[in-house]
Amino acid sequence: MKATELLRNQHQQLEALFEPIEGAEGKESRALVKELATALVAHLLIEGEIFYPVAEESLAATTEVRRSYEEHALVEFMLQKLLKTDPGDPGFHARASVLRELFQRHVREEEDDLLPRADREIDEGRLEELGKQMEARFKKIQGQHADNLGFDGIEVANGSIAGRVAEPRVRALNRKTYQLAETGGSDAHFLPVIGSAYTSYPGRTAAELRRAIEDRTTRGKRDSSRTSRPCASDQSSRSSIATR
Ligand SMILES: [Fe+2]
Ligand SMILES: [Fe+2]
Repeated sequence: MKATELLRNQHQQLEALFEPIEGAEGKESRALVKELATALVAHLLIEGEIFYPVAEESLAATTEVRRSYEEHALVEFMLQKLLKTDPGDPGFHARASVLRELFQRHVREEEDDLLPRADREIDEGRLEELGKQMEARFKKIQGQHADNLGFDGIEVANGSIAGRVAEPRVRALNRKTYQLAETGGSDAHFLPVIGSAYTSYPGRTAAELRRAIEDRTTRGKRDSSRTSRPCASDQSSRSSIATR
């Protein structure tokens, strides 16, 4: 399928996901917003990562593409706001409807300008090839999107050496793609390592922790002074044996 056709189809599918949110309430609304978020984030990412750079180069559409990136940022901002809003909150439907309007406006611009220009000016074989690439990337992002699997949090801080090496990448990925609640865990098999990584949140009780995870206000932290090097390497080898 041509990239332009894929994007038009996704616009329609996304519009269909917005529709039922307007009349939904409670738990159903939360599930619908999560479903929309998974597809919307993946759509914005394949455009931003694959289609826009090609459009910028092949259509000399630098101004339009820059505007589009800004509009994506607005859509993402509003989506984050909506994801953080309890469906019982009086602002929930207002936020859902502003998000839908922002999305529709952006889609109109793409469908009135960038997509027809791409159809006219980019070779059909190239559009097919881009379509394949974007479809594969879309599926991969959706598969990775933890919301889709019902995860609320992601461990960004871990006491092991492997955890420390992966930390910047995991944090960046979470900031950019997942936007899940951060957690930290020492994953300790040795006494001195216990507490080397932990989850901080406002409050003290399990209910407050749950609330913080839902609100995405937890922080995954690491205290390097609690980790002695030899112990950390023992810790890492034992974890890798245990998880093999
Ligand atoms: Fe877009
Ligand atoms: Fe789009």
